[in-house]
Amino acid sequence: MAIAVYPGSFDPITYGHIDIVRRARKLFSKLYVAVVANPHKSPLFTAEERVEITQAALAEAGINGLEVISFDGLLIDCARERSADAIVRGLRANSDFEYEFQMALTNRDLAPEFESVFFMTAGRYSFLASSMVKEVCAYGGDVSTFVPNSVQTALQEKLHPET
Ligand code: PNS
Repeated sequence: MAIAVYPGSFDPITYGHIDIVRRARKLFSKLYVAVVANPHKSPLFTAEERVEITQAALAEAGINGLEVISFDGLLIDCARERSADAIVRGLRANSDFEYEFQMALTNRDLAPEFESVFFMTAGRYSFLASSMVKEVCAYGGDVSTFVPNSVQTALQEKLHPET
């Protein structure tokens, strides 16, 4: 069975990401969840916080036996360092397709040895995005259906430190 890297900003991890991790784990002998240190969007959480939050969320979801790492620079270099065979990404709505297609083709051009593998998200998570979760929490909304408790706590501490 092959080794895979599942990269992302994970700012923060949501039930949508967790669903992809759960399913990808069944197909790969080793799965790295790779938190990009410097995403192009400016993150709410630092890279260290995102790694910790991701680890806590996966543990809370009962998912063990995988490694959460952070990486800087090109994804293909991270994949090479981990001797990966595949890059895992989740696909939600149609709107994800163009960006994912562009990324997959760029990565294939740079490193044809890696296969990009896409998991269709579960229907109930097809609208779910970290950016929405942050916005809902920032305005005091309930995010308990989008993220596990540990992530809710981290969001609360970051966005509403006074409470
Ligand atoms: O969760 P995101 O923000 O959609 O994840 C995007 C990510 C981290 C997969 C992408 O930005 C990435 O791979 N960044 C590392 C830099 C890189 O390799 N760029 C060239 C590939 S397009």
